[in-house]
Amino acid sequence: MCGIVGYIGEQEKKKIILDGLKELEYRGYDSAGMAVLKDDEITHFKSVGKLENLAKKTKDFESIGFGLAIGHTRWATHGKPTELNAHPHFGKFSYIVHNGIIENYQEIKKELISKKYNFLSQTDSEVIVHLFEENLKENEPFIAFEKTINTLQGTYAILLMTKAEPNKIFFAKNLVPLIIGKNDKKEVFFGSSDTPLIGLAKDVIYLNDKDYGYAQKDNIVIYNGKKPKSLEWNKLSISKLSAQKDGYRFFMEKEIYEQSSISNETLMGRVLKDDIKFENLEESFFDDINEIKICACGTSFHAALTSSYLFERISKIRVSVEIASEFRYKESLLQKGTLFIVISQSGETADTLQALKIAKKAGLKTLAICNVDNSSIVRISDKTLLTRAGIEKGVASTKAFTTQILVLWMLSLKLAKNKGKISKAFLENEIKNLLKVPTVLKVDEKIHEKIRRLSKRYLHGHGFFFIGRDIFYPLALEGALKLKEISYLHAEGYPSGEMKHGPIALADSELFTVALMPKNTLYEKTKSNVEELSARDATILAISPKTFDIADDFIKTKDHDHPMLEFLEMGVILQLLSLEISIRLGNDVDMPRNLAKSVTVE
Ligand code: M6R
Repeated sequence: MCGIVGYIGEQEKKKIILDGLKELEYRGYDSAGMAVLKDDEITHFKSVGKLENLAKKTKDFESIGFGLAIGHTRWATHGKPTELNAHPHFGKFSYIVHNGIIENYQEIKKELISKKYNFLSQTDSEVIVHLFEENLKENEPFIAFEKTINTLQGTYAILLMTKAEPNKIFFAKNLVPLIIGKNDKKEVFFGSSDTPLIGLAKDVIYLNDKDYGYAQKDNIVIYNGKKPKSLEWNKLSISKLSAQKDGYRFFMEKEIYEQSSISNETLMGRVLKDDIKFENLEESFFDDINEIKICACGTSFHAALTSSYLFERISKIRVSVEIASEFRYKESLLQKGTLFIVISQSGETADTLQALKIAKKAGLKTLAICNVDNSSIVRISDKTLLTRAGIEKGVASTKAFTTQILVLWMLSLKLAKNKGKISKAFLENEIKNLLKVPTVLKVDEKIHEKIRRLSKRYLHGHGFFFIGRDIFYPLALEGALKLKEISYLHAEGYPSGEMKHGPIALADSELFTVALMPKNTLYEKTKSNVEELSARDATILAISPKTFDIADDFIKTKDHDHPMLEFLEMGVILQLLSLEISIRLGNDVDMPRNLAKSVTVE
């Protein structure tokens, strides 16, 4: 999972590539590189670590005047993050950048080695450039490229430059995203998402799987299955969101604080006086649905699990929830009448995308809940509900989760109403509570300050348990995931009632338990479970609107009368807790080790 960019034009190419890669750094940041082809010369740079290292390395390099450039930011899959493994990979006179995995690279490599090709890296990607140069021996460049692509199995977004055709960038896409843009100045841009193109390109094409072709300054040709395609340009209408942190220490912190205002966007036009309405989702969409299956990964999976309580309780419809990477090989029995929902912030998660394809193939109706319009998942799903969270830059998902929860809450009400499972009064009360969400999500500065202070206590110990019941169980899972991701401390989410079936054996004063104790959902039951832990000396951080004396630390939440409002407020508190612990530990909150924002590999 990596990010790639490309450019054809007169402007300073180094700047365009570095700026573009900055926008894609969320896709991987263990090394980066670029190559510029100008005046028949190709210059390349690679560096290990974040993009700033590449920026330093290219400080004295200038590349104004017509030329081509390609760039790459890497998240290692084959081979360690080293300079040799960083892209671009090159042959004698050609350079490539690649996102994806070439599954048959070993056999291609073996064959090329037998023909005396020299491999510098351990990557799967390097075979592409040598295979191209091999094919070039007997073919003109485009045919050589076509032959190369036809040999590759797996996933790829590829940009290739060669001195054999110095005015063209060759490209190909399969199962990972690639976008081409152009403007009136005859400049051409490439990106793994449209964000690097915003402000530069006017029109874009979202390439389809198996598309390949070439671009020159005044000509773009796309093939699919041997035939040239007509070009379908889309206006690139999104305005560039401010990349600034607005005074916050990290994007994650900014994104936590943004949740209140952003929730207005998520609800806008959807929560009416006495109804819920989704744009582009006609009433008949649910007509023949008698079951729901939801697939997602990570945080999105936790949103899915939360919604299963809502769908069954409110909409009275059977729901199963599956981790996408499990589902895709499970050979599930899929039945017509099942609505298949996928949830994804990025819309590019490989496992979720594949789950969606399986469901489509089985003829199920599909619905995506996604934050990125025009992403692969959105383009494939029958229908989409956008979460409207705006670009999320922190690798640890915060506002994306919250807006997923809001969409799912609204969807459960919509479905319930549609199926006649709820009364008018019930719906009106839910709507009243939905409208309180922006206020509930406002970060309470006093609580934030308290978390900042008490985070000191929670830096060591032998582990964390986050516990809760009902919808607060998936929230506990999410709290634990958040902490793990950015603090690197061991944390587990558990249903409170399950602790006595094994995990309580770990209890001692070095075991930190974060207990979610809402007043509206099984308070007494959860309280007993927490008391059991406290009796065994576990250190308890209780989060509740009800004072709880035996807790070592206590965060008092507001007195909401609706479990979802308690859920949302506690969600913010858990996000702040992991943020403050991570900051105290001196970690890079926005780019935690080993992770990437968008997981486009299996
Ligand atoms: O983009 P997606 O929602 O499909 O991503 C799924 C997970 O990779 C993602 O939620 C991941 O767990 C986050 N880093 C959580 O903070």
